[in-house]
Amino acid sequence: MKDAVVLFRTLQGYSAQYAQWIAEELHCSCHEIAHTEPQHTGYARVLIFCGGVYNGRINGLPFLTRDIGDHVGKKIIVCGVGLSDPNDPEAMAHIVEKNHLLEMKTPIDFYFFRSGISPSKLKSIDKWSYALITHRLKRKDPAKMGMYEKAMYDSLQGPLDFSDKESIRGVLQYAQASGRNPVKIR
Ligand SMILES: Cc1cc2nc3c(=O)[nH]c(=O)nc-3n(C[C@H](O)[C@H](O)[C@H](O)COP(=O)(O)O)c2cc1C
Repeated sequence: MKDAVVLFRTLQGYSAQYAQWIAEELHCSCHEIAHTEPQHTGYARVLIFCGGVYNGRINGLPFLTRDIGDHVGKKIIVCGVGLSDPNDPEAMAHIVEKNHLLEMKTPIDFYFFRSGISPSKLKSIDKWSYALITHRLKRKDPAKMGMYEKAMYDSLQGPLDFSDKESIRGVLQYAQASGRNPVKIR
């Protein structure tokens, strides 16, 4: 797809991996969003952004939404990448809401890919935030933890990776289809 471009922002590498898989399958270019110039996206009809979810917020999304007015008429797909359960409508609705995805001037479609966590790759504020979250989780009954909490808790024993290339199938089909759908929680 010559008229598609994949953008990403990553701290531990998981969103970069999903972005690369999507770009490879669509035969299109892939850029780190902070280093994206207008000429990288100007020609594109389809923009796909992948960013890690941290405390509900999609990392790097402001780089996309800051210039959202420049992308009127394009199909914009935002892929949150994280440890939540993609099949949990409440967890997905929380991310959509926290990132104001329904309030954008240009409509955005939302997908979510399950990824992993590499605690040793975390730096500064995210390292502290991870320590705080896992400290709280140590006092919680693992049987009462949701998928995200359980993965965070289990990662105290070492890195985890639930990334699955198969999960990009829906995005690939949607990117290649004509027209767009209203925001869907997948
Ligand atoms: C401090 C911290 C907060 C996180 N918060 C969430 C969250 O709210 N929801 C979620 O699904 N995953 C959460 N995660 C898991 C990350 O989204 C996951 O590690 C993801 O793969 C990061 O993507 P990246 O490597 O591309 O930055 C969190 C991880 C850390 C370290």
